[in-house]
Amino acid sequence: MAKPPHPELQTARLRLRRFRPEDAEGLHQCLADPGTMRFWNTPPHTRPLETERAVLRMMDCTPAYYRFWAVADAQDDRCIGLASYHDGHIRSRRADLGYMIHPAHQRRGLGTEAVGALVGFCFTELRLHRLQLLIHPENTASLALAARLGFRREGLLRGHLRVGEVWHDQCLLARLNDDTMS
Ligand SMILES: CC(C)(COP(=O)(O)OP(=O)(O)OC[C@H]1O[C@@H](n2cnc3c(N)ncnc32)[C@H](O)[C@@H]1OP(=O)(O)O)[C@@H](O)C(=O)NCCC(=O)NCCS
Repeated sequence: MAKPPHPELQTARLRLRRFRPEDAEGLHQCLADPGTMRFWNTPPHTRPLETERAVLRMMDCTPAYYRFWAVADAQDDRCIGLASYHDGHIRSRRADLGYMIHPAHQRRGLGTEAVGALVGFCFTELRLHRLQLLIHPENTASLALAARLGFRREGLLRGHLRVGEVWHDQCLLARLNDDTMS
C-alpha cells in the first residue's frame, strides 16, 4: 500500500517538508560544523557522502516511530536545518524531538519557529500526550528554545549518551499536551 504523503508544516518564514537528495549540500554545512555538532549525538561529518546517506535515511519514515523534516527557507526552499520526532511510543502517545539550524541562520528565532510548528503538529495532528527533549546540560541555546516553548526540566540522566568513546549526561525536559504555558 502506498504511504500517505509526507505532511508539510508552514510557518511565517519556514517550510518544513520531506527531505530531498539535493538537500545534502545545505545540510552538510550543518553536520560538518564542529560548533553546531558540539552537542549532537554523532561526531561532525567529515565527508559529504556521510550526509548524502543521512539524507536518504531521513527521506524515509515509520510514522508511528519517527519522521524527519527538512527545515527550508520559505522564500527559496533551501534546506537550512532539520526537525524530527523519534522514539515514538504508541501506547503512551509520546515521542522525543530533535532539531538543528544552519549556523549562519541561528539566533533569528528560526529554531523556535520550526520546533514550535513541530510541537503543534505532534499535539494536534498526531494527538501525542507527551513530548520529550534530551539536551546536553551546556547546550544553552537548546535549553533556551525549550523554555521558550514551555518544556519543563524533569531531571539529569547521567551517562545517557555515548558519542565516540565519550559518555555524556543529558537533561530530560518534557511538555504535556495539556500543560498550560506560564
Ligand atoms: C538549538 C538551535 C536549534 C537553536 O536555533 P536558533 O534558530 O538559534 O534558535 P532561536 O533563534 O529560536 O533561539 C532560541 C533561544 O536560544 C537562545 N540562543 C540561541 N543561540 C544561542 C547561543 N549560541 N547561546 C545562548 N543562547 C542562544 C536565543 O536567545 C533564544 O532564547 P530566548 O527565547 O530566551 O530569546 C541551534 O542553536 C542549533 O542548531 N544548535 C545545534 C544543534 C543542537 O544542539 N540541537 C539541539 C539538540 S538537543
